[in-house]
Amino acid sequence: MKFDTPATTNPIDQLKVIGKPTDRIDGPLKTAGTAPYAYERHDVAPDAAYGYVVGAGIAKGRIASMDLRAARAAPGVLAIVTAENAGKLGKGNFNTAKLLGGPEIDHYHQAVALVVARTFEQARAAAQLVRIEYTRSEGRFDLAAQKDSAQMPKPTEFSGPPESKVGDFASAFAAAPVQIDATYTTPDESHAMMEPHASTAAWRGDKLTVWASNQMIDWGAGDVAKTLGIPRANVRLVSPFIGGGFGGKLFVRADAVLAALGARAARRPVKVALPRPLMMNNTTHRPATIQRIRIGAGRDGRITAIAHEGWSGDLPDGQAETAVNQTRLLYAGANRLTTTRLAVLDLPEGNAMRAPGEAPGMMALEIAMDEMAEKLGIDPIEFRVLNDTQVDPEKPERPYSQRQLIQCLRTGAERFGWSRRIGQPAQVRDGQWLVGMGVAAAFRNNLLTKSGARVRLDNRGMVTVETDMTDIGTGSYTIIAQTAAETMGVPLQKVLVRLGDSAFPVSAGSGGQWGANNSTSGVYAACMKLREAVVQKLGITSPDVTFTDGMVRAGDRAVPLAEAAGPNGLVAEDAIEYGDLDKKYQQSTFGAHFVEVGVDAATGEIRIRRMLAVCACGRILNPKSARSQVIGAMTMGAGAALMEDLGLDKRRGFFVNHDLAGYEVPVHADIPHQDVIFLDETDPISSPMKAKGVAELGICGVGAAVANAVYNATGVRVRDYPITLDKLLARLPAMA
Ligand code: MOS
Repeated sequence: MKFDTPATTNPIDQLKVIGKPTDRIDGPLKTAGTAPYAYERHDVAPDAAYGYVVGAGIAKGRIASMDLRAARAAPGVLAIVTAENAGKLGKGNFNTAKLLGGPEIDHYHQAVALVVARTFEQARAAAQLVRIEYTRSEGRFDLAAQKDSAQMPKPTEFSGPPESKVGDFASAFAAAPVQIDATYTTPDESHAMMEPHASTAAWRGDKLTVWASNQMIDWGAGDVAKTLGIPRANVRLVSPFIGGGFGGKLFVRADAVLAALGARAARRPVKVALPRPLMMNNTTHRPATIQRIRIGAGRDGRITAIAHEGWSGDLPDGQAETAVNQTRLLYAGANRLTTTRLAVLDLPEGNAMRAPGEAPGMMALEIAMDEMAEKLGIDPIEFRVLNDTQVDPEKPERPYSQRQLIQCLRTGAERFGWSRRIGQPAQVRDGQWLVGMGVAAAFRNNLLTKSGARVRLDNRGMVTVETDMTDIGTGSYTIIAQTAAETMGVPLQKVLVRLGDSAFPVSAGSGGQWGANNSTSGVYAACMKLREAVVQKLGITSPDVTFTDGMVRAGDRAVPLAEAAGPNGLVAEDAIEYGDLDKKYQQSTFGAHFVEVGVDAATGEIRIRRMLAVCACGRILNPKSARSQVIGAMTMGAGAALMEDLGLDKRRGFFVNHDLAGYEVPVHADIPHQDVIFLDETDPISSPMKAKGVAELGICGVGAAVANAVYNATGVRVRDYPITLDKLLARLPAMA
């Protein structure tokens, strides 16, 4: 189904199943512990051996020698895979050849060996016996020190251009009567999802099956094939249940490649999980950024010049954190400049983590907006309203498909009690607490990408959906079931959804908050084709056909779907494909975050007291799972604001706090009260579902809203995340 003109009325608009706060249909499997995760495929690989990964003990250099004798002789050991015996690994679309290092070492905890044994304990014990001598070489680890050597990065599919210029920023900024010029930093962060990276791999002849924990099945299957140098058709990648990803599982990682190599060497299925203390340095992370923002405005509060420059680092041939992109779109202003620069760092690979680009970018931009509003003496909400734009500020002929930023801010202000806020900082005391409120806009783009599905109708009237879409805890199973139920006119209980298998049609996958809108649109397309097959089978010629209550109705005729399916059932497969509506219209999602904090007047301890997010992001397919996504994202934003920080050893080049004891994330006690409001919106430009993404919008802007609340509470402006009490303590107002 080609989607190239705005959606009109369609079966989804009935809203009998779509739009209802439906419980997760996979919930019982999760709570009963019967959802098979990648490491638990005892059902398909009961005889699996266990692989234990040995990570490099240096960040940069070479393996001088590797002594495997003691490990080989250890009890239960079946095989040891190293770069010496693995054969040459190919490069996938991502840098998969480096998933097994040696003799060159590219980063700390890069995998250098996999020890395979009969039991996990045997593999782990033998792995400790691997003796490695390294020749260490000089590495580059500190972004601030490498900033001046940073280069213009090569654009990637998702990065946008490394520079954008409109008008004459320098002159307009110089001429502006009110200006700010400030630099912000965000630290390295880790996804810290619940389920570690894990895979079970099994060969049958030259055919490989990998049960993995992976967000993007088609990318993953392709990369496994390229890395191992085997035909794509010989690889099956299966990932029906995933315990969180946040972008850390967009690509196959060492667990999948090493499980496949280990299974080949040991001649039996092998499972590999990355132990938690290996994950932070072995896998990807959100890279640290340095961001300089300059804004110039007239005394009336209208922005005349805006510039955002971003720096980040990555391994050679790596990619930049594109923290400046939202600044190209979010606010009006005739003179504009953005630049992205990339330094080479010999740290673990920097890559996507929930809302890559916008999440750290909004942490900086939305503090800058707060600072500018203060300089202008304008309320921060009114300042954003004044500079709203309904068109792409770089290309005024491109309107937004929907943009309700002002409505989000106004609705939130009303609900949150913004009128009670005192603009001058450090005015409100509640016992020991200095209390403040902060606001930030939320912004994240809505990406359209092809997505396919297959649907089958059987002689019991059951509708089975198959697509390689994944559910990373987001609710994909449920919204896909709702979509099929709505389109086919059957109750939810009559739909069976099967996901996460490369044997199924290729979907959009889970990434960049594009999963919900695109994957359900693909299912809608396949269901519409199935409806056609039903109509044809019954020889219906009238155009007035309805599918409701498990029946097909045309004129006087009413046929149960089970009967229409016939003994052999009916199958249809289709994909949603997009025309150029996303070129004609800018498609983004909008929101507003409100935060109230208390800061202990004596110790500087920061406690979040209340949070509210108002989101405008197209049709909400399932308010329950969407709310859950936003609450999770707000919580992650609170972590980014106040806690999360991979502590870097700048001499040795590794993240020191590489476990969940040292890497702090929010717990329930840190998040006392959250609320989410979805504005009533449908976007006929986005898809037949009229929906958009929401999972990443929820994090964008949260950090800045916290920072702005801390400023309002204390008068201390912190521009370096995370905002920890040591950054406040010396500057807190004198105790009354
Ligand atoms: Mo998202 S960081 O693209 O999984």
